[in-house]
Amino acid sequence: MSTTDKAPVQDFATDFDHTDPSWVKDPYPIWDDLRQRCPIAHTDRYGGAWLPTRHEDVAAIAHDTDHFTSWTVVVGNGRPGEDALPPPIGVAPPITSDPPFHAMARRLLQPVFAPKQVDLYESYVRELCGKLLDPFVGGSAIDASLDYAEHIPVGVIAKMLGFPEEDGEIFRGFVHTILEAVDKEPEERIEDFQPVIDYFTARIEEHRENPQDDLTTFLLEAKLGDMELAPEHVFGSMLLLIVAGIDTTWSAIGSSIWHLAQHPEEVARLKSEPGLLDTAIEEFLRAYSPVTMARLVKEDMDYAGCPMKKDDWILLSFPAANRDPDMFENPDEVIIDRKVNRHAAFGLGIHRCLGSNLARMEMRVALEEFLARFDSFSLADPDAVTWSQGQVRGPRSLPLTLGNF
Ligand code: HEM
Repeated sequence: MSTTDKAPVQDFATDFDHTDPSWVKDPYPIWDDLRQRCPIAHTDRYGGAWLPTRHEDVAAIAHDTDHFTSWTVVVGNGRPGEDALPPPIGVAPPITSDPPFHAMARRLLQPVFAPKQVDLYESYVRELCGKLLDPFVGGSAIDASLDYAEHIPVGVIAKMLGFPEEDGEIFRGFVHTILEAVDKEPEERIEDFQPVIDYFTARIEEHRENPQDDLTTFLLEAKLGDMELAPEHVFGSMLLLIVAGIDTTWSAIGSSIWHLAQHPEEVARLKSEPGLLDTAIEEFLRAYSPVTMARLVKEDMDYAGCPMKKDDWILLSFPAANRDPDMFENPDEVIIDRKVNRHAAFGLGIHRCLGSNLARMEMRVALEEFLARFDSFSLADPDAVTWSQGQVRGPRSLPLTLGNF
């Protein structure tokens, strides 16, 4: 079944669907409404799922690893099969891992994302941004997603993993299969996933035969205690980086440019006060948080008055938490010099994003290079902007008019 032949949602409180076209286009009024009415919505779709919309509930569930598992973090029609690595490991450690294994899998990757390591990629990102933008300087149009944002994180992750840079299109296809085509039937999803397995297996074999100074070889040589990582762990962590590192950052860069394209006064301010960019980026991350993750309920229980069943999904909406008026003053206003901004865009609890330093650096460099080249830009046609479907939200086509106005 695809989005087009599904029944449209009548009431998001009792029948929500995060792939409904109205949610894809503009989810914020839906969450505002739910926050006042439910505040934890339910649906029978996807075999049963719950949606907390208040910061308080999102935080409580994110921290509660006793009652909720991260075994799979992407809502779909199926549940992990018997062949999937069971908790506490899951298919893509550490994001799918539960305690106590999670801490070990996370510690293993931590040095890879330390600020000093991330700094090593900054000049590469700057050069890549320049190469992407220079052909458009002096022109009158650019698609800030298709021509720009989507290429930046792909290049970085390919470089980190030691994969061919020209395989970018293949990675974007994988991201689509895993994160966007979630409303397909389980058998179809399994079939679609085979090319991902084939591609990764080939890259792992190449690296086994010819070790490199990259993350793939790092994972192949890594040890937990005195044990090498299970092949599934190596595969899963590589897969995680492709999924976690690409459309997340691409979406965050795209949403920031989408916002700025409608606020020339903020573009002018960022040009005259470049020191404000870091604060503005935190606000873009809060207001247009791209990432929603999921949990599965471990056992039947009552949670905040909700009769949750084992294997029900929780759609853990960090983006909705970031628009909660009980947590943020004027949450629907984008205030680029917001003083207090303890947003949850990178998650809450033990799974808090490992790649946040890298993501922030990519966003900063991408926006600096964009602002340095274009004095003014606006949406060519607001209705022509398209948004991704599923748990990672950002513009997928973002046509802009460039010029002096
Ligand atoms: C703006 C961009 C990004 C956003 C908004 C974002 C958001 C998130 C969120 C919300 C989580 C928590 C997941 C959960 O609770 O289930 C997470 C986890 C994670 N992210 Fe990111 N992410 C971004 C970029 C990246 C990048 C660039 C990488 C690496 C290349 C990355 C790697 C990870 C990893 C490895 C985890 C799992 C950590 C764990 O389970 O301990 N992320 N991210």
